[in-house]
Amino acid sequence: MTAVLPPSPENLERTARRLLAGGLVAIPTETVYGLAANAADGTAVARVFAAKERPSFDPLIVHTRPVDRDAIETLGDRGIVDASSVPAADRECVERLARSFWPGPLTVVLPRGTGVADLAASGLPTVAVRVPRHPVALALLARVGFPLAAPSANRFGRISPTRAEDVRAELGDRVDLILDGGRCEVGVESTIVAVDRGRLRLLRPGGVSPAEIERAAGTGVEIVPPDASAGSAPPSAPGQLASHYAPRTPLRLLRLPVTDVAALPARVGLLAIAGNAETARRGFAQATSREVIVRVLSARGDDAEAARNLFAALRELDDSGAGVLFAETVTQSGGLWPAIADRLRRAAGGSP
Ligand code: TXA
Ligand code: MG
Repeated sequence: MTAVLPPSPENLERTARRLLAGGLVAIPTETVYGLAANAADGTAVARVFAAKERPSFDPLIVHTRPVDRDAIETLGDRGIVDASSVPAADRECVERLARSFWPGPLTVVLPRGTGVADLAASGLPTVAVRVPRHPVALALLARVGFPLAAPSANRFGRISPTRAEDVRAELGDRVDLILDGGRCEVGVESTIVAVDRGRLRLLRPGGVSPAEIERAAGTGVEIVPPDASAGSAPPSAPGQLASHYAPRTPLRLLRLPVTDVAALPARVGLLAIAGNAETARRGFAQATSREVIVRVLSARGDDAEAARNLFAALRELDDSGAGVLFAETVTQSGGLWPAIADRLRRAAGGSP
């Protein structure tokens, strides 16, 4: 069984050695756990795709240590970005984003440098880059000195892991070792934006809200409609594939009244967004005449707390023996709510 290791200096050293040797390791980030490999090593990157059973057209996010001066030049010097292809208009914008959100849960798509393996970017001329802020990820990046390609450490299409034990449940011995950095503080993946000739496009909602990005960038963010790219290969941001983040148990977005009650299994799961668990359980048990298992994302309706609890709550319901899961729809707006709504919609298979 793959070892889950506390992030002691010795274990960081051991992890760095595995990465240098082309290995695969799971690391904590502030968003979700990542399955990391040397981004410059095409063979190691191929192992990431194999371990996740991820199609090769779905590019990975490249993680790098903090940028301390001109972000584009620094990323250029590291071979991650082709700095000469970044127009002047975009430099200022990237600079502002980097200053405001790095280290942190923002990923920026930029022209790809020669130090990133083709496969990491699925052959695209661009690369998705982020500087994580989890201390263990930062310590490891400082130690290895090369960028790490790291998608979420789950099997393709499944629920992202926010705890070390979730990684083990997802990947078992497909990963050489798992560094335990505790529970992820943000709980949903990074926000992905593309900077393209002065325009900023939101490719995936995530840990930084669109409003915060607009404020920092001083420019509007064009929201790419969630399913604009679904069905086209390769999609502009394949994390946007309609079905993703899915439990094994069928999950439906809750619409009241529940119409096909007679067809429901004896035990059903309910993912409530806010409020009291017992009240929700009683109400839904009455509506369905079934045994109801409930998880509440945030009793007080706080978006950050709800995001932090989202994937673990889905996993717990998935393991609860319920035959079908219902998720309340998100009616709140602003902050991390769009990211939460996006993940739930995809967990339900992309139905609108
Ligand atoms: O928070 C996160 O971003 C986590 C942690 C581990 O850092 N990582 C993560 O990676 O969510 P992953 O592989 O699950 O999501 C990668 C997504 C792709 O599905 C795609 O949507 C987008 O990043 N992406 C990567 N490269 C891209 C590119 N060149 N152009 C557009 N989108 C890209
Ligand atoms: Mg993922």
